[in-house]
Amino acid sequence: MINFINNLPKAELHLHIEGTFEPELMFEIAKRNKIEIPFQSVEEIKQAYNFDCLQDFLDIYYQGANVLITEQDFYDLTYSYLKKCVAQNVLHTEIMFDPQTHTKRGISFKTVINGISSACKDAKNNLGVSSLLIMSYLRHLSEKESFKTLQQSIPFKDEIIAIGLDSSEKGNPPSKFKDVFQASIDEGYIPLAHAGEEGNADYIWEAIDILKIKRIDHGNNSLQDMKLVREIIKRDIALTICPLSNTALQVVGNLKDHPLKKMMELGLKVTINSDDPAYFGGQVNQNYIEIQKALNLNKEDLYQLAKNSFQYSLLDEGTKREYISKLDSYYKESLIKRDFNA
Ligand code: ADE
Ligand code: ZN
Repeated sequence: MINFINNLPKAELHLHIEGTFEPELMFEIAKRNKIEIPFQSVEEIKQAYNFDCLQDFLDIYYQGANVLITEQDFYDLTYSYLKKCVAQNVLHTEIMFDPQTHTKRGISFKTVINGISSACKDAKNNLGVSSLLIMSYLRHLSEKESFKTLQQSIPFKDEIIAIGLDSSEKGNPPSKFKDVFQASIDEGYIPLAHAGEEGNADYIWEAIDILKIKRIDHGNNSLQDMKLVREIIKRDIALTICPLSNTALQVVGNLKDHPLKKMMELGLKVTINSDDPAYFGGQVNQNYIEIQKALNLNKEDLYQLAKNSFQYSLLDEGTKREYISKLDSYYKESLIKRDFNA
């Protein structure tokens, strides 16, 4: 199974670039930027990654991002993640970035987007991995602040396909961002949002009805409301599930109790993702491996999850078909091998 997962062609659809910041690279960049970080060693950093809830994690995550200053820093962070994609047979990735985490420290939008974007272009040319960028608004800040970010993004519109909504969910309902989402849609961005990670089903209703989102990040709590589940299925909206994030942030107590299998049985379209791999103990393949084991998923389930990752990506239909046909060949071959060995 581990081999099957490692070689399975897949896409990653829920990934925060700031959440890929491995301690080793954090030390290196902090050193070259002459920035003090409150840790003496990689081990000390890793020990601090023990979270009670989303907010507990976010406090440390924003602190880590503070050492990113130059275009080169954003480039190195992004390229380092894209190399990991290649090693895991991730053919395509959709990368979220949080401009406000950086602009509020005086780093320009241009520095952030240019660094990330040139790493993506180089990775496409040198490594063959494709990527799209999602600009996320921080929901703990005001809607007015996100309007500023929308304005800053306009000169770089061609580099960004979608907008997202992340950070502290409770107390910051999707409806708070109604107008900026509409303005972003008018600019041509595809609307996506985190909903139902810690927030209840009513936040997911708001995200699909008021923000008109095309994909739900997390969405675990959709199972609180069967009418909502039916509506999500009817509208053909996928959920980007992040198993190791869910246990790290105590959204789910134990992977064996994870709702993923139930979601699949109900007919929800779900995908497997790493969210913030440097903080949650595993890249995307580790997420597949651990959830497969915990829920006893079979190869067909894993094939379906990988197929969803392409099907519900933001790629054009032709490119989706190309990737899915690669996946289909891989899957068919693995079935022949199984029959041969039997
Ligand atoms: N920002 C980075 N990871 C996040 C998560 N899991 N939920 C909300 N905001 C985030
Ligand atoms: Zn996330």
